[in-house]
Amino acid sequence: QLNVLHKFKGILFSTMSSKELLNSLDSFEAREDDVFLVSYPKSGTHWVAEVIGNIPNTKITVTSPIEYGDISKFEELKTYSKRRVIPTHLSYDMLPRNIKQKQCKIIYIVRNPKDVAVSLYHYYRDNPNLPCVETWAAFLELFLRGDVVYGSWFDHVLSWEEHKDDKSILILSYEEMKKDLSKSVKKITTFFDINVSDSEINKISWKTSFSEMKSRAAKENYDPNHTICALTSNRNLVFRKGAVGDWINYFTSKQKRVFDELFIQRMKHSELARRFED
Ligand code: PPS
Repeated sequence: QLNVLHKFKGILFSTMSSKELLNSLDSFEAREDDVFLVSYPKSGTHWVAEVIGNIPNTKITVTSPIEYGDISKFEELKTYSKRRVIPTHLSYDMLPRNIKQKQCKIIYIVRNPKDVAVSLYHYYRDNPNLPCVETWAAFLELFLRGDVVYGSWFDHVLSWEEHKDDKSILILSYEEMKKDLSKSVKKITTFFDINVSDSEINKISWKTSFSEMKSRAAKENYDPNHTICALTSNRNLVFRKGAVGDWINYFTSKQKRVFDELFIQRMKHSELARRFED
């Protein structure tokens, strides 16, 4: 799988995240008012980015991911005059030091890892920037070993675990957004200290529903420099099913048992890993 991925500090990255860029992450200069949109892949990044992009009358720009591109990245990020919302799939440990020092605001999205695994499996199959996998069973083994792009879901969530109560972090789950999107939209606007009327909240929720986003993605042309995820600039690959619990259609009972055992072993003290059960 190393033709389209490469290893950096033991973690697999797409070749669209250049080694030079990854090596220089700590030279990134954060601004006090930056907001980072962080998640393990396939957890709802495009969704939350779209909510933010639809907040009316704001002086906010959603940029491309911090780890997407080459060494010129940080110069490009300097050109934004508006408040920057910067997506990333990096773990806490890899996040540029300056972001932590400045205690920038962070939105962390978590999703049921079984659904993440199914979603990432399809992404592996559909996205030419990811390696080929023959079967679901073969992919699940890679996923459980953390031998997938951005490494282990378990390590990723655990790296954020001890920061979950920081007041600069808003934790959202994919599942709570599915359950009550308006409530999550309200949480997001409040986090940005932006006053939005209930009718605007409803309008944002409508515009960011799965069906609306999927049909817009099919119609619009996208600027490759404005991608939300470092794994593709083709938005059409992102909107697949948009459902909670699709894992049930893929996991055999044995696969579920193996998964649950590892989950209990790794995540039994994790509160973050309980958020998607809400
Ligand atoms: S990426 O490419 O790694 O950044 O993917 P990410 O955006 O984090 O997650 C992609 C999954 O989110 C689903 N999605 C949505 N679900 C519900 N409502 C809306 N509006 C929405 N937008 C994106 C998308 O379909 C992927 O999940 P799956 O399960 O594959 O459908």
